[in-house]
Amino acid sequence: MSIKNFNGNVDATYLKEMAILLEDIKETSYQMMNLSPGDIILDIGCGIGVDAYNIAEIVGNKGKVIGLDNDPEMINNATENFSAINLEFTLGNINNLPFPDGYFDSVRAEKLFQVLPPDFNYDDIIQEMIRVTKKGGMIILVDTDWGSASLDYKNQGLTNRLLDFFAKVCRPNGYAGREFIGLLKRNNVQVVDVNVKPIITRDFRETTFGEWLTREALEHGIATPEEMEGWNHDLMEKTEQGEFYSCVNMVLVAGKK
Ligand SMILES: C[S@@+](CC[C@H](N)C(=O)[O-])C[C@H]1O[C@@H](n2cnc3c(N)ncnc32)[C@H](O)[C@@H]1O
Repeated sequence: MSIKNFNGNVDATYLKEMAILLEDIKETSYQMMNLSPGDIILDIGCGIGVDAYNIAEIVGNKGKVIGLDNDPEMINNATENFSAINLEFTLGNINNLPFPDGYFDSVRAEKLFQVLPPDFNYDDIIQEMIRVTKKGGMIILVDTDWGSASLDYKNQGLTNRLLDFFAKVCRPNGYAGREFIGLLKRNNVQVVDVNVKPIITRDFRETTFGEWLTREALEHGIATPEEMEGWNHDLMEKTEQGEFYSCVNMVLVAGKK
């Protein structure tokens, strides 16, 4: 599975392609972590391990990075792809982190909250992240605000209907990015830095609004087959003519315990 035929399941190939697209955003998130050589870092929902590996290079051999994920396939993939003396990957759940209080200098979660089911209590989760962070340590949250998605299509009504449906139904927690400041603040974490970075896409096939959105929208009766046929045809034509434009914001928030 890759971005070009994304079917709603995040897998290793999709995450690899996304890591290239989001290189600049990832780099900004590392800067927001105030990393120093010797730091001990946790990356929760580490996926294929790209960030854990990059951060391990920054903190050096006196430091340590742990990448944690609840999907054994992701952990196997990360372990196979990335190895360093100061890097570990471990199976675990954000609900119940297998680490002592105050163990980490910095804890991060990227594109994790948008996939957490709505019945998770996000305050409990953030409390668990706070628990394992040292006093004065950093908590970095990075996620998509799917409610900010925009796309140039002649039928504004259909566009709004589909993008709204995508944020509310296709993603378990599509508004994650915009919720972070409030989430940290009400859990007594000092918000010290906020960045918003747009992801601009000029190729319809590189968005998540093609095949998968079409199937979901038809199944849920959000649009008619004719509307979706026009959507796919016209947006591919726009891509071929170099006219395609879509954009969605990534929100990066740094908090200090
Ligand atoms: C969209 S991916 C993002 C991966 C990585 N952070 C990145 O930016 O490439 C979300 C990851 O969170 C993991 N995940 C989902 N629920 C989790 C949970 N309850 N605890 C730990 N990891 C979880 C998934 O297995 C997946 O690898």
